[in-house]
Amino acid sequence: MKGIILAGGLGTRLYPATVPVPKCLLPIYDRPMIFFPLSTLLQANVRDILIITTRRDREAFMRLLGDGSDLGIRISYAVQDVPRGIADAFLIGEEFIGGDDVILILGDNIFHSRTIESSLKESIADNEGATVFGIDVPDPERFGVIDFDENFNVISIEEKPAVPKSNTAAVGLYIYDGNVSEHAKTLKPSPRGELEITDLNNIYLRDGKLKARQLDGDSVWFDAGTHESLLSASVFVYNIEQAGGKISCPEKIALEKGYITPDKLKEIVCDKKSSYYVRIRCECGIR
Ligand code: G1P
Repeated sequence: MKGIILAGGLGTRLYPATVPVPKCLLPIYDRPMIFFPLSTLLQANVRDILIITTRRDREAFMRLLGDGSDLGIRISYAVQDVPRGIADAFLIGEEFIGGDDVILILGDNIFHSRTIESSLKESIADNEGATVFGIDVPDPERFGVIDFDENFNVISIEEKPAVPKSNTAAVGLYIYDGNVSEHAKTLKPSPRGELEITDLNNIYLRDGKLKARQLDGDSVWFDAGTHESLLSASVFVYNIEQAGGKISCPEKIALEKGYITPDKLKEIVCDKKSSYYVRIRCECGIR
């Protein structure tokens, strides 16, 4: 299973903050935003990850995450020169995917749920074709909207419909089989000039191979693409971590999964004074 984090785009809704810093490296509370989607992939046991960025921002992501060896994983990078849509990730990533199954997460999508780890692992194991993840929202018309039956077979998936068939939004997390790049090649740009992920999902739907998975009622999802959602996400993470342990920390997950040793973690955190690393050190019992 391969993983892709799509972290391209210019983040124009967050100007001027994104003029010097890419959106997915802006902080959510005490760490760069990309730590959240990266943590989600690690929770799903995905260790071979491609990060897609603009040409301008590539260096900044590499400075932060390098080749992934500090986390016991493999990170490679690719460039999306023009924001051609989410499904473009499967054209850019074709060689990386190499016919394997792949999970795609948007770089500004933040998930928190007690069950996300088991839900992802089950979905990966059960995937035959494609799997989309849904969460109920009050304003589904802003998203891809999924309608599915009691067996989680998708009946329809529509991009930002004026009259939504359900309240279930498709979040920025998708699993595909090894045919995804071939299917993506058949897509035509939508009226907004993008290769739409919803059009790709409709190809799987037509083949009877699109499943939906509903995220639990206690799940929290942020699409941190605006100043308001960025702030809400930061406040949420701060509050939850005041009450309990830290969430979505790649170093902590890598240690828990045995991808790195306590000595390696010690090497990473020992000379760093920020509150983030101090908490990681305490919570992982590193002296
Ligand atoms: C994109 C997808 C949409 C999905 C959303 C999740 O929308 O096209 O189907 O529900 O991401 O964040 P966009 O952010 O491009 O408007």
